[in-house]
Amino acid sequence: MIIAIDGPAGSGKSTIAKLVASQKGLFYLDTGAMYRMMTLRTLEMCLDIHNNYDVERLIKENTITIEEGGYLLNGCKVGLEIRTPEVDANVSRVSAVKEVREAMVKRQRELSQRSSVILDGRDIGTVVFPNANIKIFLTASVYERAVRRFKEYLEKGVELSLEKIEEEISKRDFQDENREESPLKKADDAILVNTTGKTILEVVDNILEIMENHDG
Ligand code: CDP
Repeated sequence: MIIAIDGPAGSGKSTIAKLVASQKGLFYLDTGAMYRMMTLRTLEMCLDIHNNYDVERLIKENTITIEEGGYLLNGCKVGLEIRTPEVDANVSRVSAVKEVREAMVKRQRELSQRSSVILDGRDIGTVVFPNANIKIFLTASVYERAVRRFKEYLEKGVELSLEKIEEEISKRDFQDENREESPLKKADDAILVNTTGKTILEVVDNILEIMENHDG
């Protein structure tokens, strides 16, 4: 069984997917983390993503493994270093590169060869698994998504104004929705869940209900 959760930045995909996964005993795959790892390496290796040779190096010289304990980049566990404002500001540009997407999608399909998987991202229901059993598209207003990200940054000790975060989120939405390769969009058969004004638990319940109705 494949459950696809797509939606824009800060719509709550990963928090919700993680909770649903633990309640239902599913394997959770955070595909955004994979694009974030590639972005981190692009910055560390000073690569030019418009240069074919550099893109080839990025893909060839870096390996992503996912184990029970976490996400490994070249054998080392990654954590907050893929969630910095710098990675946030560059990830849309790196994830728009066709070859990067092809490599990540291939890896995502390999990693999903288990019985039941829930994946979150931008193109899961449209490109990675167009035949997913259940497709959810999460949204929320830009303001609410910016407030959520503001709180996350505060917890990590990063001080960024709400205004700046709203601007960054709108910019990333625009880039993700308007890129040529696998743009962010709701699959025709995805169920739209607007999370504005809802608590995490309300959204989780909503999705569990969708799953039950589907099963039954
Ligand atoms: O957590 P947040 O929504 O901010 O982002 P994320 O899910 O970690 O994804 C970060 C970025 O990776 C997105 O803004 C997209 O540019 C890219 N991404 C993508 O292109 N396709 C995916 N399946 C997942 C993420």
